[in-house]
Amino acid sequence: MRESAIVTRDLTKKFGSLIAVNNLNLEVPRGKIFGILGPNGCGKSTTMRMLCGVIRPTSGTGEVLGYDIMKDSEAIKQNTGYMSQKFSLYQDLTVEENMQFYAGIYSLSNKEARKRMEKLKEMTNLRGKERALVSSLSGGWKQRVALACALIHNPKLLVLDEPTAGVDPVSRRIFWKIIHRLADEGVTVLVTTHYMDEAETCHNTAFLFSGRLLAYGSPNHLIKELKVSTLEEAFLSLVQRETGEEVEISFKSFLN
Ligand SMILES: Nc1ncnc2c1ncn2[C@@H]1O[C@H](COP(=O)(O)OP(=O)(O)O)[C@@H](O)[C@H]1O
Ligand SMILES: [Mg+2]
Repeated sequence: MRESAIVTRDLTKKFGSLIAVNNLNLEVPRGKIFGILGPNGCGKSTTMRMLCGVIRPTSGTGEVLGYDIMKDSEAIKQNTGYMSQKFSLYQDLTVEENMQFYAGIYSLSNKEARKRMEKLKEMTNLRGKERALVSSLSGGWKQRVALACALIHNPKLLVLDEPTAGVDPVSRRIFWKIIHRLADEGVTVLVTTHYMDEAETCHNTAFLFSGRLLAYGSPNHLIKELKVSTLEEAFLSLVQRETGEEVEISFKSFLN
């Protein structure tokens, strides 16, 4: 079996004259958490959509779990859990009904669905909330329900697009604890975030800027390579290098 869950070669997506993803070469190891970082509009979601087989690349190649993203998008979808940026749960259904709905999409047998739901309720601590309407839950709980739905078919790869955006710090911590547990169980996790405390716990991170890969490596490796002391500084220094703007200084003065 291939060591890498995802490999892309010169992966490119154009929307008209806009190059949203530009010759991306990525390698995501199996069973690890891989964070994609970058400013809004740099191509994070477009990259994820191509890898999940939702949209077709303009050029380049990609393999996800050994499947060709051009030819095998159905097989990829069967083995991948995807939580898009605007993951939609049915607000007027209960937690359990939402999970059952996703079990249906993936054609799980009743027995298999029950087994998975039990496991996921335990993992996300949703037990006791089965009959709550999703509309009555806080943002943090909703994200956990969304995660449970994305995992219903026991995927080998989990793709999470800004799963904790706007979620309170305690819920973010809990969410990331679950992500780490999944990785410990062998699931590969590809995740985008704007929170540097989260990114620091990824095994590997990639910085995207204007559709291009600026840097890639473990947080410690990047910090050392760029001679800075935090991942946030690494990020700011890369953006500064690209734009020629004093991002760090203006950012700090903004905070003061
Ligand atoms: N379906 C689309 N049609 C046209 N432009 C798009 C489409 N999807 C994304 N874009 C553009 O591609 C660029 C990258 O977008 P996106 O991948 O959503 O960035 P990110 O997720 O990093 O914020 C942006 O300039 C965005 O406006
Ligand atoms: Mg996005």
